[in-house]
Amino acid sequence: MRIIVTGGAGFVGSNLVARLQEDRPDAEILVIDDGRSGTFANLSKEGPDGFSFRGEMIGRSLNDIDLYEVVEGFDPEVVYHLASITDTTVHDESKMIADNVEPFGVLVNMAVTSNFKLVWASSAATYGTRANGATQAKRPFKIEDAGRPANVYGFSKWIMENMHRRAMQEYPGAHLVGLRYFNVFGPNESHKKHMASMVYQLAQQILNGTAPRIFADGTQARDQIYVHDVVDATITAANDGVTSGIYNCGSGVTTSFNDVIDALNEAFETKWEPDYFDNPYSFYQDYTCADLSATRAGIGWTPRYQPKQAMVEYARQLHATFAT
Ligand SMILES: NC(=O)c1ccc[n+]([C@@H]2O[C@H](COP(=O)([O-])OP(=O)(O)OC[C@H]3O[C@@H](n4cnc5c(N)ncnc54)[C@H](O)[C@@H]3O)[C@@H](O)[C@H]2O)c1
Repeated sequence: MRIIVTGGAGFVGSNLVARLQEDRPDAEILVIDDGRSGTFANLSKEGPDGFSFRGEMIGRSLNDIDLYEVVEGFDPEVVYHLASITDTTVHDESKMIADNVEPFGVLVNMAVTSNFKLVWASSAATYGTRANGATQAKRPFKIEDAGRPANVYGFSKWIMENMHRRAMQEYPGAHLVGLRYFNVFGPNESHKKHMASMVYQLAQQILNGTAPRIFADGTQARDQIYVHDVVDATITAANDGVTSGIYNCGSGVTTSFNDVIDALNEAFETKWEPDYFDNPYSFYQDYTCADLSATRAGIGWTPRYQPKQAMVEYARQLHATFAT
């Protein structure tokens, strides 16, 4: 089996590559990643939980290579497309849209005509801050609630979804699955720095001996999902029999920032109190939660991990690494 993973040196991508290599030792894997926000170190790690990538890599931007030629030459059965500008604070609209949308257009056009399966990462950012309408009670987001993203990152993903929907109308037999990842946490995210998960950032604050700082009053509720669940969903989405479409990929439950600190205190056996400060952002997703009914029906996947327990497990790993 031949598989391409774009963004394979990044956080989610490197976890995906590791699982693919473990599950399918005979697969030929080609990673395309220019290292703008990922690192080779995610694919080459020492220690008992280490990892040695056995595939090939093109270390250039998708925008700077002849993507048609590369994909055609490799002749993949599946392309997992995760490469993207992932810093949601980037405000260069032209760059965000050009870098995220243009290579996706090439891949979609090729997938529908060359018959490889395309599974790609969309985002809960497509829901914006008022997914269900400002006046409605907070409830899990259904697929049709999206479409008013509050930043250009979410907008670029929304444009990609529009292209996906258009392609599906023209080629209903194509295998195209877009997954709206919610807030992902887990190993291999340290390179993301200020864009790493709240779990990672708050853990670092505590491990460095300072109180965890969160927006008052810590009750903001986000759908936070362990990266191993995201990898499961992403691989499952390429299975035969899956219904093409755009699906939520979250835990289906909310975990507040206060809950995250509880999980960290449990993992580290500490009793830190949050250091609350006022949220300076008017456009802020203070509630996200994935409705997973369409995901279950369309790709037959449900999460395995309970987020708070997964946070404890992950924080213990961070503690062990921090101490060495
Ligand atoms: N982590 C999350 O919470 C989350 C949430 C929603 C959606 N997503 C999506 O999941 C995917 C993976 O995100 P991540 O968290 O692993 O981020 P990441 O920044 O760690 O990974 C993205 C990878 O893509 C590479 N890349 C970016 N643009 C490229 C280009 N033009 N050419 C080649 N390589 C390029 C980067 O170097 C990086 O390794 C992204 O598409 C992101 O938008 C992530």
